[in-house]
Amino acid sequence: MVGLTTIMSSTVNAIGQSPEEITARIAPVGNVCIAGEECEVAAAAVASSDGPRSGEAIYNQFCTACHSVGVAGAPKFGDAGAWAPRVAKGFDSLMSNAINGLNAMPPRGTCTTCSDEEIQGAIEYMTENSK
Ligand code: HEC
Repeated sequence: MVGLTTIMSSTVNAIGQSPEEITARIAPVGNVCIAGEECEVAAAAVASSDGPRSGEAIYNQFCTACHSVGVAGAPKFGDAGAWAPRVAKGFDSLMSNAINGLNAMPPRGTCTTCSDEEIQGAIEYMTENSK
């Protein structure tokens, strides 16, 4: 470690900048994708002017087809007993299974235009109303 520190500080000295100066010099680069124009444009394009559709709206348009009556073993809306063991696996597991599909559950529950956020909202809507 002593050797590495020596090499690094001599490198710093060689280009005539202290660590503080280097940090200050590279800081704006790190901000480009966070606050820069290009990234803001990209983010604006993804989030429509209306923002994400509500979990309830997604559920009623897509998920209800199977989850209201329990098609092919789908955990039914409002059925705490069917949802509890699934919820117990953790939300990350529910999310990845909903996005990738699980047996008869199609990827994104057939809502191919749904963002991850919208899928999350729909799952929350179902699980919140099923306990
Ligand atoms: C074509 C029928 C169908 C549609 C439409 C559907 N699902 Fe499912 N879903 C299923 C079935 C069947 C299962 C049970 C899968 C299993 O455990 O084998 C399931 C399970 C799930 C689970 C539990 C996954 C787990 O980890 O246990 C979640 C969460 C879920 N669906 C979310 C959704 C959402 C959100 C939508 C709407 C965007 C949706 N589903 C639309 C059939 C459907």
